Amino acid sequence: VKLVVLISGSGTNLQAIIEAIEKGLVHAEISAVISNRPDVRGLARARDQHIATEVIDHKQFTDRHRFDQALLEAIESYQPDLVILAGFMRILTDRFVTHFHGKMLNIHPSLLPKYKGLNTHARAIEAAESEHGCSVHFVNNELDSGAVIGQFKVPLRMNDTVETLSKRVQIAEHKLYPACIELLCQKRIQLTPEGVEHRGQLL
Ligand code: GRF
Repeated sequence: VKLVVLISGSGTNLQAIIEAIEKGLVHAEISAVISNRPDVRGLARARDQHIATEVIDHKQFTDRHRFDQALLEAIESYQPDLVILAGFMRILTDRFVTHFHGKMLNIHPSLLPKYKGLNTHARAIEAAESEHGCSVHFVNNELDSGAVIGQFKVPLRMNDTVETLSKRVQIAEHKLYPACIELLCQKRIQLTPEGVEHRGQLL
């Protein structure tokens, strides 16, 4: 199973996926890591592993459609089975999302459908939630709204700050994302018009 991973930043989820592949927990290979921002830590992580990297800098494009077209062509040149968004901070056009229907995943730091968008940890603390966590979902045309593949809950403690909570969620993300990718690699999951069809256990 061939993956192309899209990043915009530090790439800790990318690192978790690389390590899960090395340990034989995920039966896949990463064909390329593509970033919309140059010089980010995630690109260095990929290079350290001798994974092909590309930068498609959104600032070099006059509009979203041109950027998405260049990104789509770059991804397709690797003919991946799955496209993995791992901290990729650009909203994608409908055309792009439709092109990768059923094969593009995202990880989001909340228990969706709660807290779509940004600043999820601060909003969960503000709302005095008793639990928080992360979700892996198929990407559809609406932000953070595609069918959920898996979630990992963490407790929210009385004295939590954005920093302490985000660390706890990050640890959960690094377990959840590889597990969800492996479900797809083993074809134990698929996207149907009714949502995600699971066969077997997630974690
Ligand atoms: C993660 O919190 C993920 O949920 C969100 O962006 C962050 C990426 O972090 N979509 P990293 O680049 O993998 O370290």
